[in-house]
Amino acid sequence: MGTNTMTYFEQNRQNYLEGLKTWLRIPSISTLPENKPDIRRAAEFARDELRAAGLETDLLEAEGRNPLVYAEWLGVPGKPTLLFYGHYDVQPPDPLEEWKSPPFEPEVRNDNLYARGSSDDKGQTYILIKAVEGLLKTGGKLPCNVKFILEGEEEVGGEHLEAYVASKPPRLKADAAIICDTEMFAPELPTICVGLRGLVYTEVHVQGPDHDLHSGVYGGAAPNPIMAIAEILTALKGRDGHIHIPGFYNRVRPPSLEESEAWSRLPFYPEEYRKQEVGSTELTGEPGYTVFERTWARPTFEVHGIRGGFTGEGAKTVIPARAVAKVSMRLVADQPPDEAFEQFKAAVAQATPAGVIAEVKLIHGAAPSLVNPNNDYVRAAAVAMEQIFGNKTVYIRSGGSIPIVGSFDRELGMPSVLMGFGLPDDNLHSPNEKFYLPNFYRGIEAVARFIELVGA
Ligand code: BES
Ligand code: MN
Ligand code: MN
Repeated sequence: MGTNTMTYFEQNRQNYLEGLKTWLRIPSISTLPENKPDIRRAAEFARDELRAAGLETDLLEAEGRNPLVYAEWLGVPGKPTLLFYGHYDVQPPDPLEEWKSPPFEPEVRNDNLYARGSSDDKGQTYILIKAVEGLLKTGGKLPCNVKFILEGEEEVGGEHLEAYVASKPPRLKADAAIICDTEMFAPELPTICVGLRGLVYTEVHVQGPDHDLHSGVYGGAAPNPIMAIAEILTALKGRDGHIHIPGFYNRVRPPSLEESEAWSRLPFYPEEYRKQEVGSTELTGEPGYTVFERTWARPTFEVHGIRGGFTGEGAKTVIPARAVAKVSMRLVADQPPDEAFEQFKAAVAQATPAGVIAEVKLIHGAAPSLVNPNNDYVRAAAVAMEQIFGNKTVYIRSGGSIPIVGSFDRELGMPSVLMGFGLPDDNLHSPNEKFYLPNFYRGIEAVARFIELVGA
């Protein structure tokens, strides 16, 4: 990268930090209806930044949906076109009392910027914006064409963007999608993610008696819907972590020998992982599988919450009429979400005890994705990051989901490059989410370097 571009990036670090903080102060929580106005403000903030950087911008609206932010700079016809993706929506911050500084009042402590969305995904999306801005400000033009598509519904299933991508709009045509929404394996190790899990998120509604009952008078004769949920859940997943949904594992594709070997060479210390990241007394999961296999290459079955009965202080002797469990399954290639959902529904019906009625609802789904690392864009990303971070790039998978990666592939035939700058201890979706600032600044430089390599 030219020295004046490099100098520009170094001189503007404080501006980048202040700009990101301004964006982080907007609580753009996509799952809560009361934050709708914040969603719009966060979208407009991104639009304005992209416009100020020198791109043509647009907000794409659809009834009842969060706006998509589109931007383009197409000044070098004949050169490749990159489509940059990020999301400006965030997860809810609860439990609030566990935050050391308020989630929407960004604060720097020890080289980390603490705020909801700092890593997932405003901080990482800001990297993309500032890389393009720096190149345009210092060079007057870019070495390749760029487009941006930023969504505000990633954390709730990404339906607006998915529908937009499915309409195959000419505006999204590009040679590769660049996604900055994943993690590095370790602070100094540039990382490309080549696999994401899919997801089916469901609710199981169980109805027992037609009204709440005195548990002394009726206990023994009346069915209990919370107990029914417990029975259903334990029937579907054994104590050894194996999932007992008929047919569920049929399409699970094991990693290649080559990929497994590469994983075994990663610097990984299970005890440290258990203590520092998980914070439990033991790690659990299917026997015979490594932690990487369990979290990257095997499907899961998790319960997120159970609602029902009396949960206040003290005691109330009641048999509740109904209960709800929120249950999700992470999927791996090649498990289609719709098929997994049907299998789950059948298994719940099979496991439902007498006297209650269980109804299963689909909240949202996302397909798993695998990226073939054998293309010029992945190679350029690996080289760019190596030049900035001074270490060899590693290839990993991740257990999380980014619904749009599958759509880019299926609908547009477009490869994705997942070059993320988060860290495993960034507390995504948890209290005290943070972004490691050295990665923020190096990320901007690495993406700028990548753009140069693609254009060269
Ligand atoms: N950025 C994450 C996914 C992720 C996290 C990928 C860590 C790689 C490493 C994304 O914002 C996310 O949280 N996705 C949701 C998707 C769901 C709501 C459809 C997820 O994985 O739970
Ligand atoms: Mn994300
Ligand atoms: Mn997320």
